[in-house]
Order: sequence, then C-alpha cells, then structure tokens
Amino acid sequence: MDQEKDIYILAIESSCDETAASVVKNGREVLSNVISTQIALHTLYGGVVPEIASRKHIEKINQVIEEALREAGLELRRMDAIAVTYGPGLVGALLVGVSAAKAISFATGIPLIGVHHIEGHISANYIENKDLEPPYVCLVVSGGHSHLVVVKDYGEYEIIGQTRDDAAGEAFDKVARAIGLGYPGGPKIDRLSKEGDPDAIPFPRARVAENAYDFSFSGLKSAVLNYLNGCRMKGESVCEADVAASFQKAVIEVLVEHSLHAVKEFGYDKFAIAGGVASNSSLRKALAEACRENHIRFYYPSPVFCTDNAAMIGAAGYYEYVKGVRSGLDLNAVPNLKLGARE
Ligand code: KG4
Ligand code: ZN
Repeated sequence: MDQEKDIYILAIESSCDETAASVVKNGREVLSNVISTQIALHTLYGGVVPEIASRKHIEKINQVIEEALREAGLELRRMDAIAVTYGPGLVGALLVGVSAAKAISFATGIPLIGVHHIEGHISANYIENKDLEPPYVCLVVSGGHSHLVVVKDYGEYEIIGQTRDDAAGEAFDKVARAIGLGYPGGPKIDRLSKEGDPDAIPFPRARVAENAYDFSFSGLKSAVLNYLNGCRMKGESVCEADVAASFQKAVIEVLVEHSLHAVKEFGYDKFAIAGGVASNSSLRKALAEACRENHIRFYYPSPVFCTDNAAMIGAAGYYEYVKGVRSGLDLNAVPNLKLGARE
C-alpha cells in the first residue's frame, strides 16, 4: 500500500478487563502499547464483574491514553485518527473507551474510527509479520469467541466456523476454576499442563456433524467436571496436572484438526492465529508442527499482542483509515457486534 505521508493512529481498547491505549504508525509499527490490567481485581470474584470493570476503566482511561502518547513521543495533534473498539464486549466497559475517543475527536477534530474487537485480534498479526497480507485463514480463540475466519482482504471476513456453545478461553477458565486454579484459567492450565500427562485421561474430542469447521467445548467441559466429581465421590485423589494436560490436549487436537482442514479446503497457504488462547504454548507448538508438515506458512502474534491490547486496534484501524472509513460522533457501543458488520 503506497502513501506519501506516515499515518499515526491513537488506539483505545476497553471491551473487557484491560484498559489499553497505543500509538501505531502505518498500521504495523507499534510506538507505544500501554495496558492497565484489572485481572488482580476480578480474580477475587473468579471472573470479570462488569460493573467493577466499567468503574476501573473510567479511573484509568485518561492516564493510559496520556501514557501512550508520552511513550510514543508524539503530541495528540500529530494523530491522523482515533481508533476505538466499539464491540463486541461488555457494554459498560466499551462505553468508556468509546466516550473517551469521541470526546477527543470532538475537541480536536481528529477523525474517529470504530473498530471491531475481533478484527483487532486478527490484525495483531500484522504488527510483527510485516510480510503477511490477505488472503489467509485465521483461527480466533479468545475468552468470548472461537471463530475460523477466511480473511479475504483487509477488513473483509468470512466466518466459516464458530463455537456452538462455550468459547475455547471460556472452557479453559471454567475447567481451571473446577480444578481450583483461579481466574484467568488459560495461562494457569498452560503452565500446569507441562507437569502432567496429556494422555492420562481420554476426554472427548467434540465434532459438530453439520459443519466440519464448527466447535463445541461444553461437552468436554462437562466431561472434566464429571471426572472430578467421580474421583471425589470414590474418594480417589486427583492429579490436577494430568487433568489440565489431558483437557488441553483435547482442545488443541480439535483446534488443529479444524484449522488445517479449513486451510486445505479453501486452498490457502497461509494461516494465522489470534486471541488470548493463541498465546497457549502447546497450541502454538502443535500448530507450528502441523503447518510445517503441510507446507503452510504459520503466523502468530507475540503473547502480549494475543491478549487484549490497543495496538491491535490501531493496526485494524489503520486499514479502515486508508479505505476511507470514518465514524460519526453518534458512534455507540455494540455489545454483540458481528464481524464484518458496520453499525
Ligand atoms: O483475547 P482475550 O484477552 O480476551 C477476549 O477478547 O476474550 O482472551 C482471554 C482468554 C481467557 O479466557 C484466558 O484464559 C485465555 O484467553 N488465555 C489462555 C492463555 N492466555 C490467555 N488460554 C490458554 N492458554 C494461555 N496461555
Ligand atoms: Zn479480546
């Protein structure tokens, strides 16, 4: 994409429990990436409490934006656009970022661009993979979403598979809670699995008959809970590391199988992953191996760009900016915003 001048985007993300701001140059160069996480706060309750999340975002948002500009060494007036996540996510949390972005846009006249959170996750791949360009297949696995997406062009997506029930990250979080690991479960199961035997317990691999690309994780979650209850009732001790490793293997096998199937069926030679679960070390290893064996180029963001951050929103926002997409000051939070839709 040729353009004469550098484009700077100030990006804001507040859809869940991270208050984040970033300055991104030309869509792929991150000049600052500030993330204020609320994890410690929500851990007390075993999951994200929406009301607490909104209040914390309000406390932090201005500070985080100022820090992002300071770290980038650029003044607000140098920004070409303000990109902000407007959905999907928790409505009260989204509203904080959207209101802040609108206020800045109104006060300065800098154009506003509403960005889809999942589009942000996918675009995180552009930050460190300067050669990655559409088309390719992307597996998006986060706390709220499990999607197989064909990225046809920048901002053009076709969802070919999705979860019928729980998202992959949700399954990690629920199983972790059942084992007694606390929130968020993904990183804890990732770590504990390294000490366990992934073949110790034969948990089910769910496949959806009607669509080979769809996922279903609630049966697996129930199987883990039943296993734990069974052991407790029989007075048998539970090896948590074996449960974690066996559960994780069951999730990974299905994710790898569906992803490879999609890349081959659609005839692409590039595959990317995105979302919080994409930082799982065993999943990355399994996908890297499967892609190598099948001569598919594998792209993945660093863990800090997998979990929620604003740099990914800046990357997605840039490609909207060059297409001429602008949002009005009537931009609103859309908690269930569909990928590819503009509201
Ligand atoms: O993308 P994200 O930060 O937020 C959403 O948009 O949902 O994803 C958070 C999810 C949580 O469910 C968390 O447990 C999971 O990503 N996660 C992981 C790992 N790190 C975060 N799951 C598995 N292994 C990890 N290392
Ligand atoms: Zn996310």
